[in-house]
Order: sequence, then structure tokens, then C-alpha cells
Amino acid sequence: MAKPVIEIFEPKLFDGAVADEIIASIQERISEQGRCSIALAGGSTPGNVYRTLSKPPRATDVEWDKLDIFWGDERWVSHDDDQSNYRMTDETILSQLKVKKPRIHPVNTSLGSPQVGANAYGETLMKVLNTKSGEVPLIDIVLLGVGEDGHTASLFPNSDVLTKTDSICYAVQHPENKGWRVTIGAQTLFSARKVFFIVKGESKAEIMARVIEGAEPISQLPSRLFTQSSSEVTFLLDSGAAQKLSKSRV
Ligand code: 6PG
Repeated sequence: MAKPVIEIFEPKLFDGAVADEIIASIQERISEQGRCSIALAGGSTPGNVYRTLSKPPRATDVEWDKLDIFWGDERWVSHDDDQSNYRMTDETILSQLKVKKPRIHPVNTSLGSPQVGANAYGETLMKVLNTKSGEVPLIDIVLLGVGEDGHTASLFPNSDVLTKTDSICYAVQHPENKGWRVTIGAQTLFSARKVFFIVKGESKAEIMARVIEGAEPISQLPSRLFTQSSSEVTFLLDSGAAQKLSKSRV
């Protein structure tokens, strides 16, 4: 894979700059193929980016009706639960879109079990992205966060799903709170055309130096899956998250 691109922004400029990067990639795909598929990251960091993306002046820069929106992972809770990534996205993007609306494909967390939900979500990705049987769905853009333990999406350290390729999506448990989640698997996430890691804050400085410049195994730092990725990988960091990177990068 090609070396990742690393872009560093001052904290006060971060949300707007990241939103602009995402808009540019969305519009590039739409101009090339008429539509764009994007898998959104969960957690807290992207919330303000999504708000910035979906409000004036940027909201009209996106042809929202030509977007297929997926979620890279989802907590196995109802969509109105405050832990739901869908709810976070609804509050920050979807509820802001008054005229042109994207096709959205949330994880159906009302199904019988997380495993049923994972299987169903894999079928949704295959269907919407017109994936041939036995092939990997090709998502145009994947947005990811990085946890302080190096996880990304719901791909956690020492998880057996990190190396699995038998399914598209997996049901996993959070290693600490044991909450169930559905995650798109590593193979599909890192086969996307473009992967953006969106990471902000000094609390992520240590882990970002290990992920980007270290050599720990992927089993310990799942975000290092980028090293095996065929995607165009970009790290979008604020200066806080980048402060422990070697000076040549900062
Ligand atoms: C989730 C995300 C998760 C998140 C990281 C970073 O559902 O929580 O998929 O991978 O991106 O934990 O979260 P923060 O942005 O809140 O630090």
C-alpha cells in the first residue's frame, strides 16, 4: 500500500478542514460515477465534523441525494438510545438536511440478535453496492476514529475478527463494558477506495504515534490495519493528536 497521507490542523480549524476534505472526496466520486457510498465513524470526535458538514455554508456543497450512507459500526441498542451511532448521525447530519436527502442504511438493531444484525448488514452492503457473490463490497469512503487502545470501528485489540474474512460484518462485544456491537469487518473497511482516520485531542497523541510510527502487531493495535490496506489512507489529525509524531511529520 502507498504511504498514508497525514494532515494536521489547528484545533479551532479541525472540524471545518475535515469537513472540507470529506466534501471534496464525496464530490469527486459523484463526478466520476454519479453516486458515492460512505461509511460513517461513530464515537464523539466526528460529531462536530458532521454538524459542520451538514449546515450552511457547506451543506449545499454536497449532492446529498447521490449519497449512500452506511455506518462503520453500531452499538446494539435502539436507534433512540444515547449510545447509538445512528442517533448521533441523525442529530448532527440527517435532521439538518431539509431538501436533498441521502439514502441511509443503518444497522437494524431491532433484529433478533447481534449476529442476525451482522449477517443482515452484510447483505445490505452487498445489495446496495451491487457486490458479486464471494467478492468484497467496495465502499467509496470510510471514516474511522481511533480509540485510546488503538481500536477502530469496533475492531478491538486481541479480537479474533481482526483476521477473519468469512463474513462482511461481525457481531462483537466491547472488551470492557461487554456491550454488543455490529462492525463492518477489517477486509471490507480497508478495501475502500478512501479511508480517513479522524482523530482529535492530546489524549490521542500517544496512541497515534504508536499507530502511525510504531511497529506493534495489528492484533495489539487494530488501527494499524492501514498498513495492509489497498485503500488511499489519510490521517486527519489536530495538532494535539499529532504532537507525539516525529518532527519530520508535524
Ligand atoms: C464507536 C466508534 C469507535 C470510535 C473510537 C474513537 O462506535 O465508538 O466506532 O471506533 O471511533 O472509539 O471514539 P472518539 O472519537 O469518541 O474518541
